[in-house]
Amino acid sequence: MRSEEAALRTAVIGGTGHIGTHLVPRLVAAGHEVVCVSRRQREPYQPHAAWARVRHVILDRKAEEAAGTFGEQIAALEPDIVIDLICFRIESAKHLVEALRGRVRHLLHCGTIWVHGPGVEVPTTEEQPRRPFGDYGCRKAAIEDYLLAEARRNGFPATVLHPGHIVGPGWPPLNPAGHFNPRVFGELARGAEVALPNLGLETVHHVHAGDVAQAFERAIARWSAAVGESFHVVSPAALTLRGYAESMAAWFDREARLRFLPWEEWKDTVSPEEAAATWDHIAHSPSCSIEKARRLLGYQPRYRSLEAVQESVAWLMQKNGGSL
Ligand SMILES: NC(=O)c1ccc[n+]([C@@H]2O[C@H](COP(=O)([O-])OP(=O)(O)OC[C@H]3O[C@@H](n4cnc5c(N)ncnc54)[C@H](OP(=O)(O)O)[C@@H]3O)[C@@H](O)[C@H]2O)c1
Repeated sequence: MRSEEAALRTAVIGGTGHIGTHLVPRLVAAGHEVVCVSRRQREPYQPHAAWARVRHVILDRKAEEAAGTFGEQIAALEPDIVIDLICFRIESAKHLVEALRGRVRHLLHCGTIWVHGPGVEVPTTEEQPRRPFGDYGCRKAAIEDYLLAEARRNGFPATVLHPGHIVGPGWPPLNPAGHFNPRVFGELARGAEVALPNLGLETVHHVHAGDVAQAFERAIARWSAAVGESFHVVSPAALTLRGYAESMAAWFDREARLRFLPWEEWKDTVSPEEAAATWDHIAHSPSCSIEKARRLLGYQPRYRSLEAVQESVAWLMQKNGGSL
């Protein structure tokens, strides 16, 4: 760790993606000395003057982990804070913690609301027992369990933030049919009929990438409240697929023409990839509470779900010359 007087040095692992595009400029503005770690294969979704003040370190996590050197490479940057946006295996989390133990003030791990399986009392709180299913959610739940145990038993300063479906200008948002094909927005915009699975009452829970960035910044600022805790980072409320479709149609000045089909019929109306994405989303049907993040971190999302999606759809339309 470096002297108390120096600006906080924050290493963001995977800092040029959905979250990093918003988080890195935010940290720079807050006075952090930011080191962005990636393979440098892609650029942030939007340019920002702050990137000129960011140091880029090119590392391939997979290759460095295979060589057993990733953790030491991160520790050698002498960060005060490490934000790990791309950890998907418990072995990766353990490797990083062992390298950083006693050497950082704060490790913030990006989780997912998929650590929850089907909801019981909704909105789901962080306190509810984890019942994950699917490889991704189970792995993330195991990482959360490990990091919080390290914090609570061994004093390792870890925090876990769980975003919902991340939305922002630059990529297509999760749509009202529960998959990512922007075609659905086009159909709603033209007043065409859209089929939804079941009664359209299953839920999705978006969050704007800028609000995810806000939560990371607030968790750093509220260190003593954040260490040893996990927090949902979502918009103030989930959407039903039906309500989402109707609201988007209204935004296009149309009345939604919706048809409802039982899952077994509906899944054959879309591609296998779209059906798999929708199944993953409706089987989870997330609706998560942000009360804990509001109370302990002062998290105040700027965007409701529809506002976040509409900003992203406006970007899609602009990119396509006004149409969808
Ligand atoms: N997307 C969602 O809706 C969503 C929802 C909930 C939770 N999450 C969580 O959000 C996190 C991902 O954040 P994101 O969506 O901002 O990520 P992202 O957009 O996928 O960006 C990934 C970042 O990691 C870098 N990267 C990828 N592979 C790498 C490697 N082998 N070595 C070094 N850098 C690498 C990428 O740059 P290069 O390619 O140039 O290396 C980029 O900077 C994950 O933990 C995920 O579980 C995402």
